Amino acid sequence: MCDFNEKTVVVTGAGSGIGRATAIAFGKAGANVVVADINEENAAKTAAEIGSRALAFKVDVGDEAQCQAMIAATVNKFGRLDVLFNNAGIGGQRARIADMPTEEWLKVININLNSLFYCTKAAIPEMKKVGGGVIINTASVDGLMGMATISHYVSAKHAVIGLSKTCALEYAADNIRCLAICPGFVETPMVSSGFTKQEAELIKMMTPLGRAADPSEIANVVVFLASEKASFMTGSFLQIDGGVLAGVNFPS
Ligand SMILES: NC(=O)c1ccc[n+]([C@@H]2O[C@H](COP(=O)([O-])OP(=O)(O)OC[C@H]3O[C@@H](n4cnc5c(N)ncnc54)[C@H](O)[C@@H]3O)[C@@H](O)[C@H]2O)c1
Repeated sequence: MCDFNEKTVVVTGAGSGIGRATAIAFGKAGANVVVADINEENAAKTAAEIGSRALAFKVDVGDEAQCQAMIAATVNKFGRLDVLFNNAGIGGQRARIADMPTEEWLKVININLNSLFYCTKAAIPEMKKVGGGVIINTASVDGLMGMATISHYVSAKHAVIGLSKTCALEYAADNIRCLAICPGFVETPMVSSGFTKQEAELIKMMTPLGRAADPSEIANVVVFLASEKASFMTGSFLQIDGGVLAGVNFPS
């Protein structure tokens, strides 16, 4: 079992899906959890499930000052920061590149990439104060391959892997580990609202395990990566994708 007693964890996008499941998993592992989301009501619901060791915090991670305020509130409430799970993200409007509105491109890049820079930049000095920490960034299988109609999302997720590697290099000497996760298809509101039923079926068919993940199946890996059990892991990315990137399969 991974023990996070006396540790403080910030989870962004914790009001729904992967973030919600991970915040709850960290809570079960004994952590103080900052449940951060732009949706205040959902953040409060997740925090209520965790109990008294949780703090719901409203944040728009696309705004640097709000990310700084989130880290300051964390330290103010719990006295330290040990783990940052940069997970909040959006799917964005879908279109091929020539039809993609530039504002939409900028919005997705801001929320899915710039936000990780803002939160990480604010978190590192606090992690240094307590002798180290772990930063886990949610990329995607779309950080390792292309997908038509979501050029902004794919570009941001590729960059998240680059940011994670660079962060790992720059702060290894400070005992700060940084990793990226690359989930495949996960059953969350983001995918149910972002893909048609037909597209969702196609993605499931392309997944060797033949189904989407439950968010808890991503949360379990994040908690492991953040724990001492993964102490020699940094600068890497982990596919949690039901085998989708393993290659091409044929029905037997
Ligand atoms: N669901 C999948 O199949 C899948 C696959 C790979 C990667 N991901 C990534 O996982 C992460 C979580 O996605 P999910 O599927 O759980 O989606 P979700 O929509 O269930 O949850 C995302 C959460 O982020 C919050 N959020 C959105 N914009 C925000 C902002 N500006 N500031 C703060 N919070 C904000 C939302 O309110 C929501 O609670 C995202 O980064 C997504 O790109 C998802």
